[in-house]
Amino acid sequence: MRRDKFYITTPIYYVNDRPHIGHAYTTILADVLARYHRLMGIPTFFLTGTDEHGQKVERAAREAGITPQEQADRTVVRFRELWKRLQITNDDFIRTTEQRHKRVVQALLQKLFDKGEIYEGEYDGWYCTPCERFFTEKDLVEGNCPECHRPVERIKEKNYFFRMSRYQDWLIRYIEEHPGFIRPDFRRNETLGFLAKSLGDLCISRPRQRLSWGIDLPFDKDYVTYVWFDALVNYISAAGYRFEPAKFERWWPAIHLIGKDILTTHSVYWPTRLRAAGVDMPEMIFAHGWWLVGESKMSKSLGNVVNPMDMIEKYGVDAFRYYLIVEMILGQDASFTEEAFIRRYNTDLANDLGNALSRVLGMTRRYLAGTLPNPSLVALERSEDQAVWEECQKAVEGIERCLEEMRLDSGVAGVASAVRAVNRYLEHQKPWELRKRGDSARIRQVLYTAGECLRVCAGLLQPVMPSKMAALRGVLGLAGGAPEWRDLRQWGKLPGGSLPGTGMILFPRIERSGAVEPAATEARERGVEQAENRKATDRRKMRQNVSFEEFSRLDLRTAKILNAEKVSGTQKLLRLEVLVGDQRRQLVAGIAEHYRPGELVGKTIVIVANLEPARIRGIESQGMLLAASKGERLRLVTVDGEITSGAVVK
Ligand code: MSP
Repeated sequence: MRRDKFYITTPIYYVNDRPHIGHAYTTILADVLARYHRLMGIPTFFLTGTDEHGQKVERAAREAGITPQEQADRTVVRFRELWKRLQITNDDFIRTTEQRHKRVVQALLQKLFDKGEIYEGEYDGWYCTPCERFFTEKDLVEGNCPECHRPVERIKEKNYFFRMSRYQDWLIRYIEEHPGFIRPDFRRNETLGFLAKSLGDLCISRPRQRLSWGIDLPFDKDYVTYVWFDALVNYISAAGYRFEPAKFERWWPAIHLIGKDILTTHSVYWPTRLRAAGVDMPEMIFAHGWWLVGESKMSKSLGNVVNPMDMIEKYGVDAFRYYLIVEMILGQDASFTEEAFIRRYNTDLANDLGNALSRVLGMTRRYLAGTLPNPSLVALERSEDQAVWEECQKAVEGIERCLEEMRLDSGVAGVASAVRAVNRYLEHQKPWELRKRGDSARIRQVLYTAGECLRVCAGLLQPVMPSKMAALRGVLGLAGGAPEWRDLRQWGKLPGGSLPGTGMILFPRIERSGAVEPAATEARERGVEQAENRKATDRRKMRQNVSFEEFSRLDLRTAKILNAEKVSGTQKLLRLEVLVGDQRRQLVAGIAEHYRPGELVGKTIVIVANLEPARIRGIESQGMLLAASKGERLRLVTVDGEITSGAVVK
């Protein structure tokens, strides 16, 4: 069903500290979703902002020797700057210290107070300062906060409470009757699990003498509003609740993207409050997982906080956006490492997408004098042409479906696989051989088809990598930075005509890489195995010519053997540990009948460093060594004299 509007929100971020990769992720995800919907012609409202009240911000200000407002004013700039750098297209940015927000919080409090939904009571329980939340005795885990596991304080004081308990049964029913309300499913179950225990009322105030940095309660000036009560309201205050009814009618309800740690506040505190105030429920609450750094939680004390600005400086905005979107399976935790980033970049962007483009540009230049045919002259004539086009069409459908199902990572992976299909198509159609046969008509057909497919893939990736895909469109002769969605489903929208003469390197390969942790898929492994088998039969035949371009795709490097051992249970295989520059890798090689492990250590050999990793007898082989063989004899290719490992062989 086509929606008539799309309203998406991120959590509003605390201004106690600078933004990190977790904040960047949610905002990029929301941005990508917003951009897809806009491309599809769906009116979109994308909201982000900052959460500026409460103890955390007050404490940070005290430590910095400034006022909380100064703390907020200074930090908000960092968020705004980062969003600008990351090309975030939010339609609004709300700060909870803005008047337009405060007046809605106060109006809502007054409304709930007048309706008897808020009452005065005595609070006696446990309080977690970092989480700014109250807990009962039985909520605690080993005497600590159930959320962050830090110590809690005992607190006894007069406060105001929202009658949340009234809505427990209603909320359980609502969640059960609306399976898409809280996603993914396991988070929905987590909320239902939480609701299986009796739900208390929610303390929504803080005595001013204890905390003054908050919005005044309209009905008791000695109190300020609890920061979570205040913060959640941003989703409706920015959308015009109470003061701009037409706007609110237009946009509400929203889809809330959040991290898994703030599930309960969104899936329990927020809906019960909206219900009490007579406001419609949010459309969906989607909780994503956490970015870990390697295997560890990201934390200041571990000193492993990833600063998005550093990544952008080093690798560019588009690549960073792409990595975050494809690497996290929506809903689950993901591990961030720079090595994984480089690997993903080199594989998907430099090798696959960048290479497909440079092939189309290069071959058009060499074989067609730089000019693609007019679309009216090209049809999908052969089944291979049809097949690669269909792969791209499947990717279009994949994105559409995955947007509905909130499986964006898999939608984008579908596009990456269409790009690989384009490369395979070119390899099978071999325009360089068509050239030898003088079959220009077929060359035109093949290169136009590949260009058309790239047009579609670039369009599909445009929301993820807006600048690079606009550049790609430009070199293919397409006008404007973004496509019309419907054009992605139509053949023949590539205008043809002359393409720029120079090759364009869209994603230069990143040469430096840390420890290799290959993520070979089964299919890739099968591919490598098949290639190994084919190699045996091909070995005696002289191979056909390859172009220089094809040869340059191989990354041949010197490697120093550090260690060698037999792979148990096999006759032929050795496992070698080698040093390639500053990285250690392991290779599995069928040379045990020709070399004893001891005689290999210390040798400098030559390896294909960018061969996709393969699993051989359960051991990951991260590259392939080169050897000369004739008959029974096999000798390793080595270098003539001293040279460091990792040197390029060309
Ligand atoms: N201010 C509250 C949200 C109020 S929304 C009405 C808040 N702010 S926060 O700045 O601490 O966190 C904002 C978001 O960042 C949360 O969704 C949180 O899950 C997310 N992340 C914080 N660290 C994260 C990772 N390491 N990985 C992914 N997201 C993480 O909570």
